[in-house]
Amino acid sequence: MSRIILTGIKPTGMPHLGNYIGAIQPALELTKDSSVTSYLFVADYHSLTTVHDAEALSRMIHQVSAAWLACGLDPKKTIMYRQSDIPELFELNWILSCMTPKGLMNRGHSYKALIQANREAGRRNTESGINMGIYNYPVLMSADILLFSTDEVPVSEDQEQHLEITRDIAVKFNHTFNTDILKPPKTLVKTKLLPGLDGEKMSKSKGNHIPLFCSSKELKKIIMKIKTDSSSPSEPKDPEKSILFSIYKAFGSTEQTKALADKYRRGIGWGEVKEFLYLLLEEHLSEKRKVYESLMNNPNTVNSILKEGAKKAREKAQTLMSQIRKTIGIDSL
Ligand code: ADP
Ligand code: TRP
Repeated sequence: MSRIILTGIKPTGMPHLGNYIGAIQPALELTKDSSVTSYLFVADYHSLTTVHDAEALSRMIHQVSAAWLACGLDPKKTIMYRQSDIPELFELNWILSCMTPKGLMNRGHSYKALIQANREAGRRNTESGINMGIYNYPVLMSADILLFSTDEVPVSEDQEQHLEITRDIAVKFNHTFNTDILKPPKTLVKTKLLPGLDGEKMSKSKGNHIPLFCSSKELKKIIMKIKTDSSSPSEPKDPEKSILFSIYKAFGSTEQTKALADKYRRGIGWGEVKEFLYLLLEEHLSEKRKVYESLMNNPNTVNSILKEGAKKAREKAQTLMSQIRKTIGIDSL
């Protein structure tokens, strides 16, 4: 049976290793199945919640699109588009907002984390710096998913709550209008979060990330910054407690990972582990990096793929949108 998969990445910088392991690679793996219809998009309007620099946004949209393609997205098989090119999403965003209890948004993890950060910083106004885009973020994300009747959304654990909200909103809409027009996404492909240089979740906003396509020299320099403990090379080490090992494991084969785990237990110097990690990442990324760089120098190639993708995605979106309009009582005249 045909399945529909969909996922998006916010253009807030060049994608990092966590985005690759958590979203790009699992999504591309799913597209290999010929019975899958895949929508992979650049969530540019989601970035607008935090990016207010036109030149930077434009550059980052290009970086994320080029990264998808360099990692193997085949535009003949997959529909790749910019969220902003599908106006129906923003129409559905409004409709879904009117079905969403405000209390559901109050419980959003990202929103609550910002309130908490304000509290910890001692600010009297705990809503300081939080715009309505941030607050409504999960509704737009629900529109992204529901407008394409998505079955599966490959994302990491951090997006799980957004998927739950999407299901809640779909069920509420269907119940309200006595319909089953919106399909709650059934399966969630969950990937464990990759740690960053400091052991926290790797994230662009935390500045602890390893960019997917920085130069080989820069990659080496960043790997050197990964936090380790002060144990000496001969001391046995627990691989499961090591940031370096977690990143290695995400990229290495079972044999490679096991071999390194054995070395940890026998005792190995951190410098040597860093060299192993560097070589492994180079093995995975050096060819892709070349494609990425060439696409960055050829914006027209990327733009025409995005345009073509938007055309196909819009056709799908318009069909469901007209049914949704009818369902809520807005018939075509
Ligand atoms: P960031 O947190 O760096 O801003 P995004 O929020 O744009 O990244 O995430 C895009 C995708 O990458 C999502 O599917 C998310 O689950 C995944 N992702 C982000 N950070 C990580 C990580 N550290 N490990 C695994 N997956 C991640
Ligand atoms: N919220 C996702 C993130 O921060 C990005 C995103 C937007 C997304 N819309 C989506 C992911 C729809 C999957 C499906 O990573």
